[in-house]
Amino acid sequence: MTTPQDASTRQTAELFGDLWHRYDDRLFEASVQLFYDRFRANGFDLGSLRGQRCIDVGCGGGRLSIAMARLGAAEVIGCDISEEGLRDARRRATGLTNVRFERASTLELPYPDASFDFVLCNGVLHHTPDPLRGFGEITRVLKRGGRCFVLLYGKGGLRWPTVMKIRPHAQAMGYALVDEAIRLAALPANKQRTFLDDFFVPHITFYDGDEIHDLFALHGYRDMQRWTTGKLDHESSVAVQGEELGQMAAVFDAALAPSAPPHFAAARAHAGTARDETRAALADLRAVEAEFAAGRIDERERDWRVHGWGHHRVLATRI
Ligand SMILES: C[S@@+](CC[C@H](N)C(=O)[O-])C[C@H]1O[C@@H](n2cnc3c(N)ncnc32)[C@H](O)[C@@H]1O
Repeated sequence: MTTPQDASTRQTAELFGDLWHRYDDRLFEASVQLFYDRFRANGFDLGSLRGQRCIDVGCGGGRLSIAMARLGAAEVIGCDISEEGLRDARRRATGLTNVRFERASTLELPYPDASFDFVLCNGVLHHTPDPLRGFGEITRVLKRGGRCFVLLYGKGGLRWPTVMKIRPHAQAMGYALVDEAIRLAALPANKQRTFLDDFFVPHITFYDGDEIHDLFALHGYRDMQRWTTGKLDHESSVAVQGEELGQMAAVFDAALAPSAPPHFAAARAHAGTARDETRAALADLRAVEAEFAAGRIDERERDWRVHGWGHHRVLATRI
């Protein structure tokens, strides 16, 4: 029998499954490098994974599993609900003997208690219907004294509230049309992936700092570090955030352009609203920049208004 949860899980798996193969080798390697750069920038000793038993929960196309395997982990398991992502990950991991990819949900991990030294769960739990249960599962499989790294979306800022306003319009336009508009806008594959995820993934949960703190504290973690350096993507600066909002607007501009194919005509109203929302966010960003330039707000206030909490990247040790 199909439950609503099954349907949304299937939709999530299909959505992400369609994304990884868009990465060519260069983009894939760049995404592995991003992991090394970000972890190093936050003082994480990459050599400390050598000999460890690691799991990458919600591994997608496998970039982080492969990164850990290359660092000399004794064994890495990458698991995901998307068979397409796993297939892509297996192909990319050819030649590595210390990594394997399995189909499993973070809501029900098929691994014994306390069986891993390092659990990594990057950008996954907030896309499940029950993040708390998922967090309970990743904690259950972690050994006492083992380390857990999680990325969860943060509340506030300009980007996510805009995405949440756009989502109903993008969904009304439909996946195929938005995908086509993204291609017409000639965005790079990693942006295609990001925008399609953002607009169509069934579940998105956001957290503030207190919620993140409580999540780890109540599950029995110590030495919690919330990483604030190594912001290397759309959070790296106000300018990059502006560029990304510009790219988002370009998607709907492409859908509305006179040169767009005739089948875009029926979606004009939704594309128009989505474009206006994105332009409004860009205008807000420019206004924040102007206030900063005029000395009316400091850098901290500028960054808070633009980025909000930003992604929570948290490393902690299980007690
Ligand atoms: C934003 S992607 C992140 C992929 C990978 N962690 C990375 O950083 O490249 C989210 C991934 O979570 C997976 N996912 C969503 N719900 C899941 C669940 N319940 N169990 C396992 N994986 C899940 C999706 O299929 C997708 O591959």
